[in-house]
Amino acid sequence: MLNIGHRGAKGHEPENTLPSFQKAFDLNADGIELDVHICKTGELVVIHDFTADRTTNGSGAISELTLSEIKALRINEHIEVPTLEEVIELAGNNCLINIELKGRQTAKPVSHLIEKYILEKDYGYENFIVSSFQREELEMMYIINPKVHLGVLSQASVAQALEWASALSAKAIHPHFSLLTEENVQQAQKSGLKVYTWTVNEIDDIERVKMYNVDGIITDFPERI
Ligand code: G3P
Ligand code: CA
Repeated sequence: MLNIGHRGAKGHEPENTLPSFQKAFDLNADGIELDVHICKTGELVVIHDFTADRTTNGSGAISELTLSEIKALRINEHIEVPTLEEVIELAGNNCLINIELKGRQTAKPVSHLIEKYILEKDYGYENFIVSSFQREELEMMYIINPKVHLGVLSQASVAQALEWASALSAKAIHPHFSLLTEENVQQAQKSGLKVYTWTVNEIDDIERVKMYNVDGIITDFPERI
């Protein structure tokens, strides 16, 4: 059962930052989850929202900001918004990196970056799982590179996640923990899928999903797993 730090260790450090990802590893996470968008100059940046407003001292749509403009922003006065490359470098090739395609048109550049790390830096496909709520982005990834491991995110229905997973030859479903039952976890696993559930922070909920034998728990508090 993998312990996966949500946006790093969001319960301890500002989400989706290098200190947050480092904290997750310090707390013995087996992997990290992060959100990506593409900025105006084409680079992949790690940030949850479509705008810089909530998490940085700046504002504006990520898609309308250049990488230099994004790098000039600050989170909690001193932390930069990381690029996806910076996070992959920090994580290394001994963990699972769950890249959530949050922004649109992210599948192609993410595929290229994964390929680069596999070809040049000794990472493997097993180091990455690309998840999304957006079927178009998952489909695009499947068309561009079917070797990339896909995870179907769902906050509404496990049945729909299973349907999409089958259509896209996904490796995993990522349902919200409130959707899980022992039966649907088993059903997914019998179909050959992993079940990575989010965002499980309370001890009672962690105990419950552990009883269902999920394959991974995405949490803001990796020390609680
Ligand atoms: O990937 C699981 C979870 O991160 C999805 O929701 O809003 O935290 O990106 P959100
Ligand atoms: Ca996410």
